[in-house]
Amino acid sequence: MNDTVVLHEVAMPPAPALVLRPWCMDDVPALVEVCQDPAMRLWASPAIQSDADAKRWVRTQQQGWATGDRFGFAVLETGLDSPGQLVGNVVLKETAPGKPSAEVGYWTAARARGKGVAPRALEALTGWAFDMLGPGGLRRLELLHQVDNSASCRVAEKSRYDFDRVLPAAPPAFPLDGHLHARHRGA
Ligand SMILES: CC(C)(COP(=O)(O)OP(=O)(O)OC[C@H]1O[C@@H](n2cnc3c(N)ncnc32)[C@H](O)[C@@H]1OP(=O)(O)O)[C@@H](O)C(=O)NCCC(=O)NCCS
Repeated sequence: MNDTVVLHEVAMPPAPALVLRPWCMDDVPALVEVCQDPAMRLWASPAIQSDADAKRWVRTQQQGWATGDRFGFAVLETGLDSPGQLVGNVVLKETAPGKPSAEVGYWTAARARGKGVAPRALEALTGWAFDMLGPGGLRRLELLHQVDNSASCRVAEKSRYDFDRVLPAAPPAFPLDGHLHARHRGA
């Protein structure tokens, strides 16, 4: 897959435009800063404390693009006088040729929350995923969150990922039940 893909979400004043592009090593300092937030440690997978951790994580994203099973995008807010500030991450994962379903994930920097960044970025990712992989058979995107992550549940609802079912807890990785939401191609 081409790792120069860049997706755009137009400005929704007062919210600035968003640019989504594959992660790169230049993102390391901002990634380390964003990952110090307790909610990130609780809800999101990257356990990043240092530059070395962040470089390893970015490398994993780059390998995903190379192998075609994981497509992670840094989400940047852009303005007329700004080259782009890191505000989040969206990822399409568990993809394989001809596979009818895949999974999405996301997080937003603490300073950027509550402004609709995650739903807007997820909408861009969802459209791109169905455009790119729909003709090859992708019909369904799944979104999973722990049952007490109400902010993530709201992102799912606002992004038209309908509630599908409760997933039983699977400790230690998933100590509580989860919600599975799904969105179908063309829905
Ligand atoms: C879940 C998350 C991605 C939402 O991103 P976002 O860009 O803030 O999304 P929204 O602006 O649409 O807000 C979603 C909900 O977050 C809550 N919220 C609002 N302001 C908030 C703030 N300042 N801080 C935290 N949560 C806030 C509200 O419940 C909101 O729903 P509402 O629009 O009905 O009020 C973000 O809170 C996050 O990154 N959390 C930590 C990592 C995580 O949980 N990732 C998902 C794992 S499944």
